[in-house]
Amino acid sequence: MDKSLSLFERYSLGARIFHWGMAAIIVPLWLLGFYVGRIMPHAATPQKTLLLLIHKEIGPFIIVLTVLRLVWRATHRSPAMFSDIPEEERLAVQVGHFALYAMMLVVPLTGWVRSSVHGLPIPMMWVVDLPPLAHKAPVFVPLVNVLHQFSSWILGVLIAGHGIAALLHRYGRRDTVMNRML
Ligand code: HEM
Repeated sequence: MDKSLSLFERYSLGARIFHWGMAAIIVPLWLLGFYVGRIMPHAATPQKTLLLLIHKEIGPFIIVLTVLRLVWRATHRSPAMFSDIPEEERLAVQVGHFALYAMMLVVPLTGWVRSSVHGLPIPMMWVVDLPPLAHKAPVFVPLVNVLHQFSSWILGVLIAGHGIAALLHRYGRRDTVMNRML
């Protein structure tokens, strides 16, 4: 890491913990959903039920973490963007970050609604049972399922793009943008 970066130029410790902690939860959670939804056979097996249970226990917790992260962000100063970054690129960065926050709320919310219309319990982190967000209406399960799948793919693309952009800064432009989050 570039030792010349002062603490002021880096994100706060809390922001860095939120960033890497949530990445460490969301990426495996995404892969778990993908594995259960796309790779495992359709038939319900005990193994599939267990993996889906883990996905559904941890998923809603992302909402809690995202809200706390947004509160942290609103109350702590973020380092300013480098002045040599062109205006269009600044806008793209802001839109990308906004979309990431939005999808970190939308994806688990659609999962929550899916369990609600299915009439299933919505436990979170093996500690609390969340209330349903909609009335039981199994007829809507396929529709909400598509919303969850579609939004999770958007989130996946955003995360991949975000990671690629950070790596391009580090190894392409060789600037210190990525170091600010390390
Ligand atoms: C940030 C949180 C979450 C992420 C990143 C995520 C991601 C995913 C992904 C990638 C899939 C596979 C989509 C596909 O088949 O194309 C999936 C499926 C699924 N997710 Fe989530 N999910 C999250 C939260 C939740 C929550 C909160 C619930 C319910 C309470 C939930 C329930 C499900 C269910 C039931 C499936 C379908 C599995 C199947 O088709 O058998 N997810 N999720």
